[in-house]
Amino acid sequence: MLAKPATSLDSNAGAPLHPKVAEALLPLFSPSSSNSEFAAGTAEAGRLDQLEKTLGNPSSQHSAGRRARSSLQRSREQVSASIGAGNSSQIIFTSSGTESIQLALRSRFEPWLRSGIKPHLITTRVEHEATLQMIDWLRAHGGTVAYLDLDAQGRPQAASFERAWSEAPLAARTAGAVLLSAIWVNNETGVISDVRALASEARSRGVFAHFDGAQAWGKFATLDVAQLGANAVSFSAHKIGGLAGTGVLWVDAAMAPSEGLLLGKQEQGRRGGTENLVGIVAIGAAASGIQEGLTARLTALENARDALEKRVVERVGGIVVNGAGAPRVPNTLNFSIEGIDGSTLVQSLDLDGFAVSAGSACASGVPQPSHVLVALGRDERLAKASLRLSFVEPLDMTTIERFTETLASHVTRMRKVRLPA
Ligand SMILES: Cc1ncc(COP(=O)(O)O)c(C=O)c1O
Repeated sequence: MLAKPATSLDSNAGAPLHPKVAEALLPLFSPSSSNSEFAAGTAEAGRLDQLEKTLGNPSSQHSAGRRARSSLQRSREQVSASIGAGNSSQIIFTSSGTESIQLALRSRFEPWLRSGIKPHLITTRVEHEATLQMIDWLRAHGGTVAYLDLDAQGRPQAASFERAWSEAPLAARTAGAVLLSAIWVNNETGVISDVRALASEARSRGVFAHFDGAQAWGKFATLDVAQLGANAVSFSAHKIGGLAGTGVLWVDAAMAPSEGLLLGKQEQGRRGGTENLVGIVAIGAAASGIQEGLTARLTALENARDALEKRVVERVGGIVVNGAGAPRVPNTLNFSIEGIDGSTLVQSLDLDGFAVSAGSACASGVPQPSHVLVALGRDERLAKASLRLSFVEPLDMTTIERFTETLASHVTRMRKVRLPA
């Protein structure tokens, strides 16, 4: 049976390509086109010689290299403007949001570890897998970890910073080897952390502050990372309609070139490896594309999310909205449904043409309850009974009704079959 075309309600996993991306990439592949900016640097525009057929290596001295460098710089400026960086030299292009997070953290941990100091990480229990992996890495290297308190909706509490800081071994505190890493917008619930308050706590104790901003980009009318009081913020291209496999790490002046993980001269010595020009041009295009009409789109997304939430709560019943009442980005809705299994429901909805995500992660074929929902105090059964809906374009009422009715019919059927205790 052919699957119906899916309505994607899973943009937090990966947003559709932004239309500006294809527009920006086409000239890269047709360098002889007379109106292409990439032809402008060649001696004889239109001549398809070997040089023109290459995308160019930004480190090369010839014309293809210069074109590549100028594309790279343009993208850096587009990204810088979109996230509110103080300066485009604060942008490091990476291979992913995951790499950005791990680069920010490991580039601090490594020098401390080399000098025999065991670092202390202040973080939360609602982080993305990329950070969870670094927590394990740090522990395996002898470091210590303290968790900020969360409120009932999963917002880290700045008031608990002092306690998390004082849990650091004296040697780490004395050496200033304490680091904060916290998620800015939660990928599962859309709940927004008060990053300014956390950064201020960190700053007053000389603690390096990193935020995972992967789900924050494109979700606020302005981002202004340079004004947060943070030292580093990570982003991912495919959350804003760029290509998966590209990320951004914004750093303030505190990150020295020698601290990179992939050693090399690229990215001002902070991230080695020849640049992924296609991904970088795409992220620049998406970054400037999302800014167009952003404020109006955010309002429309919020109206659509609220309408969807209301309909689902009324029609289906037995719904617990995760993150309700907390500041949330307008494109995400997460709820647990009494008496169902989230993974099974995701498959049923998929057959009916709706791509959604379950809160539970499937490890070795066995659904595990979402660690985020468990941290919010949901019991295992409710944590496994959750759905995350996320979208980049506002849903119309027809789609909202169609989705709600489809969901209601599956839930009714599933509730008739009792889940094993
Ligand atoms: C909050 C958050 N952080 C980090 C990442 C990792 O980004 P990437 O997929 O580019 O590695 C994601 C992606 O799902 C995310 O949602």
